[in-house]
Amino acid sequence: MKSPSSSPPPSSVFRKARPPRRLFTFLALIFFVTILYGRDMSCIFSQLDLNPKQTDSITKKGREKLPFSIGEAERGCDIFSGRWVRDETRPLYEEDDCPYIPAQLACQKYGRPDKDYQRWRWQPHNCSIPSFNATLMLESLRGKTMMFVGDSLNRGQFISLVCLLHKVIPEHAKSMVLKDSKRTFIAKEYNATIEYYWAPFLLESNSDNAIVHRVTDRIVRNGSIDKHGQRWKGADIIVFNTYLWWMAGEKFKILRGSFDDKIKDIVKVPTVEAYSMAIRTMLRWIEQNVDLKKTRVFFSSMSPSHEKSKDWGGDPNGNCYNETKMIEDPTYWGSNTWKNIMQAIGELFSETNIPITFLNITQLSNYRKDAHTTIYKKQWAPLTPEQIANPISYADCVHWCLPGVQDNWNELFFAKFFYP
Ligand SMILES: *[C@@H]1O[C@H](CO)[C@@H](O)[C@H](O)[C@H]1NC(C)=O
Ligand SMILES: *[C@@H]1O[C@H](CO)[C@@H](O)[C@H](O)[C@H]1NC(C)=O
Ligand SMILES: *[C@@H]1O[C@H](CO)[C@@H](O)[C@H](O)[C@H]1NC(C)=O
Ligand SMILES: *[C@@H]1O[C@H](CO)[C@@H](O)[C@H](O)[C@H]1NC(C)=O
Ligand SMILES: *[C@@H]1O[C@H](CO)[C@@H](O)[C@H](O)[C@H]1NC(C)=O
Ligand SMILES: *[C@@H]1O[C@H](CO)[C@@H](O)[C@H](O)[C@H]1NC(C)=O
Repeated sequence: MKSPSSSPPPSSVFRKARPPRRLFTFLALIFFVTILYGRDMSCIFSQLDLNPKQTDSITKKGREKLPFSIGEAERGCDIFSGRWVRDETRPLYEEDDCPYIPAQLACQKYGRPDKDYQRWRWQPHNCSIPSFNATLMLESLRGKTMMFVGDSLNRGQFISLVCLLHKVIPEHAKSMVLKDSKRTFIAKEYNATIEYYWAPFLLESNSDNAIVHRVTDRIVRNGSIDKHGQRWKGADIIVFNTYLWWMAGEKFKILRGSFDDKIKDIVKVPTVEAYSMAIRTMLRWIEQNVDLKKTRVFFSSMSPSHEKSKDWGGDPNGNCYNETKMIEDPTYWGSNTWKNIMQAIGELFSETNIPITFLNITQLSNYRKDAHTTIYKKQWAPLTPEQIANPISYADCVHWCLPGVQDNWNELFFAKFFYP
C-alpha cells in the first residue's frame, strides 16, 4: 500500500505551480491532468478555489446543489475556525429533559458538581452560524433515514442530535429502540428515522460486537466494508466517523483473508497506513453504493481526548479530572498523535470528487478539557479498590458530557446540512 504522503494529490501540484511566470507550465499541467484523469475542467478549477490549508467542505468541488441544502455558506467563512464564547442561554436543553442520554454521558445525574462546561457556544471568527431549528430539520427528514456510523463518539453526536430534536415531538409520536448494533429513533408523524450503527473501524473487525468489544489486540480486515455497509445502504444521510479505535500504537494489525480462516494471514502496518486503507475503502463504498444526487455524506474528524495534563502544561500525573476551565491558548494542538491522521484525511479527501461534507470538529474540541465525563457516569464494570482510591485512574477523558460540546458539533452539522 502506498502511503498517502508519497503520492501528493494533483491539487497540491497546482498549488506549487502558482507563480505567474509558471503560468504556461501550469496550464499545460491542467491540460495534461484533464486528459489523464478525464476530469472536467470546471471541477479542476473549483478545486483550485479551495483554501489550501482547509479541506473544509469538499462540497465546493461540484457546482451542483447538494441534497437538503437551502442556501450557501458565507463566502470565505470556515465555521470550524473560531472561539468559544460564554452564553448564559446555554445549554440548549437540560440533561433531565432528554431521556435518551445514556448513563455513560449523564454527568449531572452521576454527581458532577459544576455546570459551567454547558454554557459555551462556538463562534466562528468571521461569520455566524444559523440557530438550530428542530422543526426545520425534522421537516427535511420527512420520509427519510439519517444514519450515524462509527464509534462511541459518533453515538454521542447521534444522542445529542436526538436530544436537540425530540422536544418538538409529542411523547406518543416518538420512540427509541436498541437492537444489536443499532439504535433507532423514530419521529412517527414525520416518518423520519435517525439511527446509530456501531462500526468503530467502519470495516469488519474483531471489535464489532456492540456490547462486548473491549479487545486490546485489535484486528481489522483489509477492504472489508460490505459486512457493515449492507446495513447502511439506502440511508438518505450518512455521518461517518472513525479514529479512536485505531489509536493502539504505531502499528496496526490488518487481516488478509477471513476471520474464519484457521491460519490467519495478519500483517502489521503503520497505523496511518491502516487508517488510510479504511478511508479509501469507505470512499470506494460510497462511490459504488450511494446515489449522491439524493444522499448526503458527512465525515466527522477526530474527537480529541485529554488524558495527560502535561499536554497543556498541567500536573505531570494528572488528566482531565477536576478540570473546569477550557484551554485558552488558541494554538493548542495537544499531543501529536492525530497530526498525521488529520493530514492523511485531508489528502485523501482532496483527491476524491465525492462530495463529502467534512465536519472538522477536532480543533474546536481540543480546547475543551473541561467537558469530559471524567468520573461522573455509571461504570460498565464494578470499580476496583485501586480505582476507588484514585479517581484519576478511571476518569473518562474521551467522552463528552451531554448537554455539552457535542451539541455544538450538531449546530455546525446543521449549518453544513442546510448551508454547505
Ligand atoms: C489491502 O488490499 C488492497 C487492495 O486489495 C491491497 O492493495 C493492499 O496491499 C492490501 N493491504 C495489505 C496490508 O495487505
Ligand atoms: C481542521 O481545522 C483545523 C483548525 O482550523 C486546521 O488546522 C486543519 O487543517 C483542518 N483540517 C482539515 C483536514 O481541513
Ligand atoms: C477573518 O477576517 C480577518 C480580517 O477581516 C482576516 O484577517 C482573517 O484572516 C479572517 N479569518 C478567517 C478564518 O477567515
Ligand atoms: C423553524 O423552521 C420552521 C419550518 O421551516 C419555520 O416555520 C420556523 O419559522 C423556524 N423557526 C425559527 C425560529 O426560525
Ligand atoms: C415513510 O418513509 C419510508 C421511507 O423511509 C417510505 O417508504 C414510506 O412509504 C413512508 N411512509 C409514509 C406513511 O409516508
Ligand atoms: C480536585 O479538586 C478538589 C477541589 O478543588 C481538590 O480538593 C482535590 O484535591 C482535587 N483532586 C485532584 C486529584 O486533583
